Amino acid sequence: MTVIEVVSGDITRERVDAIVTAANESLLGGGGVDGAIHRAAGPRLAEAGGAIGPCPPGEAVATPAFDLDPPVRHVIHTVGPVWEGGNHGEAEVLASCYRRCLEIADQIGARSLAFPAIATGVYGFPPDQAARIAVSTLRSTPSEVERIRLVAFDEQTRDLLNAAL
Ligand code: APR
Repeated sequence: MTVIEVVSGDITRERVDAIVTAANESLLGGGGVDGAIHRAAGPRLAEAGGAIGPCPPGEAVATPAFDLDPPVRHVIHTVGPVWEGGNHGEAEVLASCYRRCLEIADQIGARSLAFPAIATGVYGFPPDQAARIAVSTLRSTPSEVERIRLVAFDEQTRDLLNAAL
């Protein structure tokens, strides 16, 4: 049974087996949560990402976590949809991000996982709809992951994720 909890804070401080970053297709790093994770993991993260990128929207790939402190062993890079009004399959791509991250977590044997609110920043996905997609997808995807932490960086995201749980 997977436990899903909402927490507030900086995902780079999470004590889990793997943290998810909201990447862009290059996997070379960027701003937002991706920038924070790349800063914390060090330059080898961009080297590893660049070596296996590009990653299409809705897909996910794992790399080591490099300079991130234990117990974090892996970074799972996923690319969310850029919001274009909601009629371009954005919801399905976002659901795919959460589903594929669980599948990758199972492949690497991660039993605890932290997610940011994928696509709700630079990519402009409405955070209320994104929160519902995150929770419903995580609940409906069978996985060996025992603990999922949905990390909110602001109060609105925290409240929306709690409402979706
Ligand atoms: N910890 C947790 N969440 C964070 C952190 C952090 N340190 N920093 C930002 N966030 C939150 C944002 O507040 C937002 O709720 O992560 C969520 C996702 O926002 P973005 O990081 O902008 O990600 P996204 O909307 O998916 O856009 C991805 O932005 O940084 C670039 O390289 C990235 O091109 C890609 C695009």
